[in-house]
Amino acid sequence: MAENSKFDETPRITVDYMRGILLPTATCDAWDLIWNFQAKPDDLLISTYPKAGTTWTQEIVDLIQNEGDVEMSKRAPTHIRFPVIEWIMPSVGSGLEQANAMPSPRNLKTHLPIELLPPSFLENNCKIIYVARNAKDIVVSYYHFHRMTKGLPDPGTWEEYFENFLAGKVCWGSWHDHVKGWWKAKDQHNILYLFYEEMKKNPKQEIQKLAEFIGKKLDDKVLDTIVHHTSFDVMKQNPMANYSSIPTKFMNHAISPFMRKGTVGDWKHHFTVAQNERFNEDYKKKMADTSLAFHFQFQ
Ligand code: A3P
Repeated sequence: MAENSKFDETPRITVDYMRGILLPTATCDAWDLIWNFQAKPDDLLISTYPKAGTTWTQEIVDLIQNEGDVEMSKRAPTHIRFPVIEWIMPSVGSGLEQANAMPSPRNLKTHLPIELLPPSFLENNCKIIYVARNAKDIVVSYYHFHRMTKGLPDPGTWEEYFENFLAGKVCWGSWHDHVKGWWKAKDQHNILYLFYEEMKKNPKQEIQKLAEFIGKKLDDKVLDTIVHHTSFDVMKQNPMANYSSIPTKFMNHAISPFMRKGTVGDWKHHFTVAQNERFNEDYKKKMADTSLAFHFQFQ
């Protein structure tokens, strides 16, 4: 109860537009520094639209690099091991400062759409892992995440949030533009484009793809160890991977845990029939110009 009242008292961040994309005001205020961030050729960047399975991928990548050494990957919480280049957050600090102080080779994270990515990443041909997740599960996951973190604005009601999401008026902008923009870029740049749904269906195969991209040869036993330690149930219990290290006044897992469900198709418990129809109609229009295809459920 006392923890909840501290959460209620803590103000939420404010947001603003940067080149048409809604972002935290602190990010917009530091934009010149972020845009001019100097990536190095051996930086590894994980890029996602929020809630696409970023934390999961970060844990997999860290374990690949450390050849399945679980204790090593527990050396620090996710946001310390992978600075978020555009985050300036209460209790987390400046991702940019963190990244600049980090020894190479660095692991970094971003949610920026490709057009807002600091140009030095592509100029230096950095390895970039992009993970995409179907938009219906994203909007549900994002809504619950807004509820539990002061690092995002108040989502309003589910109905209001759903409409804002379709209009692209949520932090980091339109999901449709984000996944399409990165999809288009993947053929010209050093980008491995993965899907959350494929990771759920066949984690070992996707971990193998990641290992190859990173340039690590791992034996079968190590791959199995990584599959196990990055499963939803194991990660949910890992304080270095479940965001429980952030003070409750900023992230309140009693409202909705960060490690919430980790499934494909949870949207069916949230969407009304009318919302689903509206979503599908809008989706058809916005995704007509791409070859990108998503699974919204498992058969
Ligand atoms: P849900 O809210 O649908 O449960 P991100 O890290 O990009 O913020 O994404 C968070 C989403 O990924 C949450 O989705 C979370 O539960 C899910 N997730 C985190 N770790 C996972 C894992 N090991 N396996 C499957 N899903 C995972």
